[in-house]
Order: sequence, then C-alpha cells, then structure tokens
Amino acid sequence: MSRLRAEHLYKVFGRRADQAIAQLEAGTNRDELRAQGTTAAVIDASFEVEEGQIFVVMGLSGSGKSTLLRMLNGLLEPTSGRVLFDGEDLTALRPRELRQVRANKISMVFQHFALFPHRSVLENAAYGLEVQGVPREERERRATEALELAGLQGWERSWPDELSGGMQQRVGLARALATDADLLLMDESFSALDPLIRRDMQDQLLQLQRSLRKTIVFITHDLNEAMRLGDRIAVMRDGRIVQIGTAEDILVRPATDYVASFIQDVDRSRVLTAGAIMRETKTGAAAAADGAPEHAVTVTTETPLAELFTPFSTSERPLAVTDGSGTPVGVVDRERLLAALAEEPRVQPSVRGGDRSGVSTRA
Ligand SMILES: Nc1ncnc2c1ncn2[C@@H]1O[C@H](COP(=O)(O)OP(=O)(O)OP(=O)(O)O)[C@@H](O)[C@H]1O
Ligand SMILES: [Mg+2]
Repeated sequence: MSRLRAEHLYKVFGRRADQAIAQLEAGTNRDELRAQGTTAAVIDASFEVEEGQIFVVMGLSGSGKSTLLRMLNGLLEPTSGRVLFDGEDLTALRPRELRQVRANKISMVFQHFALFPHRSVLENAAYGLEVQGVPREERERRATEALELAGLQGWERSWPDELSGGMQQRVGLARALATDADLLLMDESFSALDPLIRRDMQDQLLQLQRSLRKTIVFITHDLNEAMRLGDRIAVMRDGRIVQIGTAEDILVRPATDYVASFIQDVDRSRVLTAGAIMRETKTGAAAAADGAPEHAVTVTTETPLAELFTPFSTSERPLAVTDGSGTPVGVVDRERLLAALAEEPRVQPSVRGGDRSGVSTRA
C-alpha cells in the first residue's frame, strides 16, 4: 500500500483562486491566468509513493516543484485536493494536529535553508529532535550518528559559519536523518554540493535508504540525479505533472515531446541497466541449467550498460545477469545491448493516461 498519496492537488497564488481552478478545468491555460494576476503553481497533481521508495520530482525552474513539496507537509495549504499520509488526510487536520504530524513523522530539507548561527553544528543537527522533546543525551547521540552519515564527523563542535555552503547543506540533511521521520521531503538537497561530493551523497542516500526504507520525495532539476535516485520520477512542466514513471519508462517511452526533448542529452548507457534490457530466464536451479555455464561474465541487474562493453570486447558470449542475492535471472547478448543504445526515444501518449490516475507504471 502506498504511504503517501497526493490527490488532484492544486495551488493557485493570487486573486480568486477557486475561480482559477474552475477556469483551469475548463481549459484556460496558465499564461492567460497570469495575465489576470493569478499564478497556477501546481495544477492537478496526483501520485502515490510507497514505503522504501524515492519519488523524484523533476522540472525546470518555476515548474512548481517546491510548491508541490510544501503542500505535502502542510506548509502550504492546497487550493484544492488532498494529501494522505498513512491514510490520514493532512489537509483536514487542525493546525495543532498538523504540527504534531510534522514534528514526528515528516522531515524536510529545504532548498534555501538557514542554520542557527549561534548553535553548534551538533545542536543544529539535533534541532528536529529538540522540537520532538527528545532528552538532550539521546538527541546528541542521534545527531552525532546522523552527522557521521552525512560525512561531517569531527565538525560537531564547529559553528555554521565555519562550514562551506555544501557542508551546511549536509547539516540540513543530518537534521532530517536524525529524526525518525518516515517521510523525508528533500528540496534540491544536493544542488549546492560540488559534483564529487554530490555523487557521494547520492550514494549515501541510496545506501541509507536500503536499510532505513523511508518514504522519500526528492526534488531536483538535474536529470541525471533524478535518474540515479528515483524509483519513480515525475516530470513537471508549467505546474503540471506530464509523466510519471521509472527512469527507463521516461527514457524509453517519453509521454510527450517535452519529456523527449528533456531527456535528449541523457547518457543512456549510464541510466539503463542490464536488468532493463535482459532476456529473463527461469530462476534458481532451472536457470543454472539454462546455459549459465557458457556465459563468459556475470553482471547484476543494476549494472549500467556502459559497463557491459568491456566484457563484450573480449568475448561474444552472452552475459549472465543475477539479482541482488546472486540468483541468475536473465541474460544479455550483444545485439540487445546495441539495440537498447541505438533506440531513439519515441513519444507514447498512451502511457500518460495510466500515469495521471496515480497508478504505478513500474513493470
Ligand atoms: N508564495 C508565492 N506567491 C506567489 N507566487 C508564488 C509563490 N511561491 C511560488 N510562486 C510561483 O509559483 C511558481 C512555481 O514556483 P516554485 O517555487 O514551486 O517552482 P520550482 O519548480 O520549485 O522552481 P525552482 O527550481 O526555481 O526552485 C512560480 O511561478 C513562482 O513564481
Ligand atoms: Mg524550488
């Protein structure tokens, strides 16, 4: 069951918001509304996120990502629509109840966020726990662990202004990780980091997620980051979600011309994995009998296509593909690899209908 569910969310800024929704439903476009002094920041957004998933929202500046995220934890009240977390309608809660849910269940890493300048890094990281009323000793212990996870071990007693911008951003991440919140909302959390550290943080997040299994909504305008992190990705354009799907869905079956142009520059060999293009075989003992001994090399379902070239350069034989536990699940031959890389993304409007209902398109 999905833990987080957004149902037909709208956020309209400016005059006569309710009327604007009726106009949008009747087909008035966003630019016409803007001419009236009304901004439709988010238009009819629906999706679901399951436990343990990272749901990425991607889009250009101004497409409505931050506004959408702020509605998910009640910082912004939707003009219309509902947000359900564990079946509870956050939009119907009283302010006090909402604050309670926010303090205990939801953690947010803001896009532009400020640390408290007169508190140490440790105190900053422990802030969420302080709000929850966790005793000092425990919150310092948990904040210390979270700082270590964020790669800031040794900086606990420093002041925020002694840290670089990227390090300060990581204190924000540590603050979110220190709480036991199940829902993590991350707005451009890694954007201020330089590329190597950024990749490192992405790896750490993926690794953490394997054991913590939080429900994460991660916002980015970086396509490669989206593809790396997202179990599912929503692409936003001018306030609307134009496609929801896995990285492969979006890469191989873009729903609109806009998405197709968006993904033009993605390095397919780094996003597509052996698992996405393999021919599935029977699992277990049957697979071993299915010719496994004749395969030159074994890779996993997560191996990017870019790493399949080397084995094929020394042998024509197909590669065996195993899952995370080492069980053979499929094979990839050279033809499949080349076909996958040669494929031009084609727009498939039919995908869109299924997505808009919030149904997972994960194969
Ligand atoms: N409080 C507000 N009042 C009026 N308009 C707003 C407000 N907040 C956001 N907007 C408008 O809503 C639209 C979406 O803004 P939002 O901040 O959600 O975009 P974004 O996708 O997060 O962009 P970025 O990548 O630059 O952070 C923009 O046109 C913005 O000007
Ligand atoms: Mg934003």
